[in-house]
Amino acid sequence: MPFTLGFVGAGQFAGQFAKLFALHPRVGDITVTDLLPERSAALVDRLGLAGTFSSLDDMLASSAVDAVAVFTQRWTHGPIVERALRAGKHVYSAVPMAITVEEMETITRLVAETRLTYMMGETSYYNPATVYARQKLAEGAFGRVFYAEGDYVHDMDLGFYDAYRYSGGEEWKTTASYPPLLYPTHSIGGVLGALPTHAVSVSAIGVSDQRGDGVFDRAVSMFDNDFSNASALFELADGGIMRTNEMRRVGYPAHIKESRFRFFGTEGSLEQLATVSVWQDKNTVTDVSELLRAHASMSLDDPALAGVPEALRDAFVSGHAPIHDLTRLPREFENAPNGHEGAHHFLVDDFATAVDEGTLPPINAWTAARFTLPGVIAHESALRNGERLTIPDLGSPPAHLSDASSRQAVS
Ligand SMILES: NC(=O)c1ccc[n+]([C@@H]2O[C@H](COP(=O)([O-])OP(=O)(O)OC[C@H]3O[C@@H](n4cnc5c(N)ncnc54)[C@H](O)[C@@H]3O)[C@@H](O)[C@H]2O)c1
Repeated sequence: MPFTLGFVGAGQFAGQFAKLFALHPRVGDITVTDLLPERSAALVDRLGLAGTFSSLDDMLASSAVDAVAVFTQRWTHGPIVERALRAGKHVYSAVPMAITVEEMETITRLVAETRLTYMMGETSYYNPATVYARQKLAEGAFGRVFYAEGDYVHDMDLGFYDAYRYSGGEEWKTTASYPPLLYPTHSIGGVLGALPTHAVSVSAIGVSDQRGDGVFDRAVSMFDNDFSNASALFELADGGIMRTNEMRRVGYPAHIKESRFRFFGTEGSLEQLATVSVWQDKNTVTDVSELLRAHASMSLDDPALAGVPEALRDAFVSGHAPIHDLTRLPREFENAPNGHEGAHHFLVDDFATAVDEGTLPPINAWTAARFTLPGVIAHESALRNGERLTIPDLGSPPAHLSDASSRQAVS
């Protein structure tokens, strides 16, 4: 039975997902709200959606909305998600889950209590390298993975100045300084999306920006932040090591590959650069670049990309790679726009299926916390000169949620 979905935020990213949710057979009417009503009206017009709400309050108060999809600015998700769960709505949230440990604790507690579906849309979970690493791990080809790296390498000059101007209006410089380690899910999620473990401690170092254009300036920043690049070294619960790099000032072509991964096991390893991916064992190197290469899902001047800065468009159109198994996707997604190396189709399908069937999605609240919370503690470590800090773990989903039969599907 299709469920109804309300979009919260109609900015640069929401349109890509609204289109896919509208195509999904398990999703019914889609409505939209935005603080800027012209944005919600434009999205409804462009995609022929069911209508707008004048505020988030009105949307949450409506019994005609079963679930919400939160696509607001990255530091705003925690409180909006909390309100939506308290209002009895299932929640799809863009990354990150939240920016404080308390917000993440609240979300996991509310999901456990209400049994509503919560899912975070981490695109790296379906990054071709992460999908490949999951397969190799299941085959036992890695042996024991003892070290893995995830990079989210995206220079501010490649679209982020335009994106923050669109997002933040006159005051955009106060928010463009968003701390890199508080946006940790593309790097951590790509590693822990493959490895069944979690981070237990961290030491991180931040690089203070030197560009001097007022963006990463503590006097201007609403986050009191001047780090534009940061690296974190994590201890994992299985005794292994994870390193992540969050880079926003870097001479690197993010439009070719902005998230990159490396996994080292005792028997095999996977390494990626912008254009090359190789699988290695103790004797051989196998070039798997083509297997992991995402192909464009639409043209860069497609009208669906209205409002998306030119330099960000490559990521927003990149479609499936040969490694992806498309058989689980609804046929309505054939030839539909995609993005982030094929991830959008899988994320939309995961949420639609979880809500409709009352099952836990792969990136449920507890997984989302394990992808997000380590970055919050890593940022704290960087602020304390690399002091090694313990990472609180919110655990795995409680048993009463893991048992899908005990949950009620949306009627
Ligand atoms: N690879 C990825 O997973 C990926 C890529 C791009 C963006 N994102 C995430 O998607 C989210 C949206 O990004 P974007 O670029 O579209 O942002 P954006 O700034 O373009 O749009 C956000 C919109 O939300 C609206 N908004 C804010 N608070 C609201 C509220 N309380 N009620 C209603 N509307 C509200 C704003 O007015 C704005 O139009 C961000 O969290 C970002 O982190 C993820």
